Amino acid sequence: MTTGLGTVLISEGEIRRRIAEIGRQISKDYAGRTVTLVGILKGSFMFLADVIRAISLETPVEVDFMSVSSYGDATTTSGTVHIEKDLGISIDGKDVIIVEDIVDTGLTLLHVYNILSARGARSLRVATLLEKPGKSRYDRPLDYVGFKIPNKFVVGFGLDYAQRYRNLPDIRVLDDEA
Ligand code: IMP
Repeated sequence: MTTGLGTVLISEGEIRRRIAEIGRQISKDYAGRTVTLVGILKGSFMFLADVIRAISLETPVEVDFMSVSSYGDATTTSGTVHIEKDLGISIDGKDVIIVEDIVDTGLTLLHVYNILSARGARSLRVATLLEKPGKSRYDRPLDYVGFKIPNKFVVGFGLDYAQRYRNLPDIRVLDDEA
């Protein structure tokens, strides 16, 4: 099987406009408070970099990153999670937004949410650039969603296939060619 890049699903311009809206919404929701963005590596780095610049300077922002790998099959939420890179800051008492690239089954998000919640975050919300249908493992609302997409494998704007294509400026479907 070889793989090739399919058509553009979401263009650079659409991404830029939607992220500007999300930044305005976050600025409004957190006015007068400090917000702590926790990016889930690696895929979220580009989304986070753009979102943070779309947040008003009147809303102080802290940033940190963590990296986790989930070992759980798709039929259970009891899989374990391994923290590959942990946060360098305490989030105790802070207003935190988890920043994800894509929520698929929601298993990764469920684990991260539980870890950060146990560390005493005062509030915990989620921002994701993309949402696939059927996030059955995570049943809380997603607070800031860039785009809902069909159940296809996508790459670009930080998302990879075997570590490739993260540098694409738009989101494309990865086509499988027999
Ligand atoms: P979940 O735990 O099933 O929600 O999967 C979330 C993670 O799987 C994301 O953070 C991505 O790293 C990866 N992932 C899921 N779908 C895609 C996709 O379409 N393209 C690239 N990565 C994906």
